[in-house]
Amino acid sequence: MTTDLRSAASVLRSARHVCVLTGAGISAESGIPTFRDALTGLWSRFKPEELATLEAFERNPQFVWEWYESRRAKVLQTQPNPGHYALAELAGRVPEFTLVTQNVDGLHQRAGSPGVLEYHGNILRDRCMVEQVVAGRAPEAAGRLPRCAGCGGLLRPDVVWFGEAIPAEPMRAADRAANDCDVFLSIGTSSLVYPAAGLAETALRHGATVIEVNPNATDLSPLADVTLRGPAGVLLPQLLEAML
Ligand code: APR
Repeated sequence: MTTDLRSAASVLRSARHVCVLTGAGISAESGIPTFRDALTGLWSRFKPEELATLEAFERNPQFVWEWYESRRAKVLQTQPNPGHYALAELAGRVPEFTLVTQNVDGLHQRAGSPGVLEYHGNILRDRCMVEQVVAGRAPEAAGRLPRCAGCGGLLRPDVVWFGEAIPAEPMRAADRAANDCDVFLSIGTSSLVYPAAGLAETALRHGATVIEVNPNATDLSPLADVTLRGPAGVLLPQLLEAML
């Protein structure tokens, strides 16, 4: 066991409130491509900014829906990996635990994590463009755009697009947790996309111990108290084991 793993385990053992932020890296071992990797095949000719914006959707909803349906289908074929399961277990091992994810794949929830704060929404849900609430689908006519079962309005994926605000409730709750926690774990995120990346900075300002789990260095690495270099699916189960 490395010294870093031992010291991270010891920090977690005596933690009062652990706040975790996850990014695309934690789902990599489940086979979910990161945002940019998702632009494969037919989609590789486009930039994310040309597909994941309200303007793109309003211009060509059929086209944007096709991309989201192909990503949804991939997500539904995947399973949580040992990293997701380790975090679900960690929640029961510390007095207070908050899990914030930038991922839209729902894998933390499927692994059994309670109260996940979805910072960027969830690709498996639809939202009504008219009522602006999560909505069910009206029976679909083949080849037609999905419509709201309640009001018949056009549906969109319930994800945060470029230029859109983070949903108020997860944003408030994540901010509260980053201010209150004494240990902050940053897992599988490049720490480049704000406001999510700002949560670690908030925690640091309030004196929390910051632990990073990532095979690669990020902008957060020099500021972190402990850096665990390697895949989350391997390191997180080892970390839990080391806590015993
Ligand atoms: N375990 C842990 N980390 C990993 C693994 C792994 N097995 N594989 C890759 N990583 C790390 C990479 O080194 C990288 O730092 O995961 C990080 C993924 O970075 P990004 O693709 O930038 O993902 P993320 O930080 O979640 O992006 C934030 O940007 O594109 C938008 O809205 C999208 O939510 C996304 C946001």
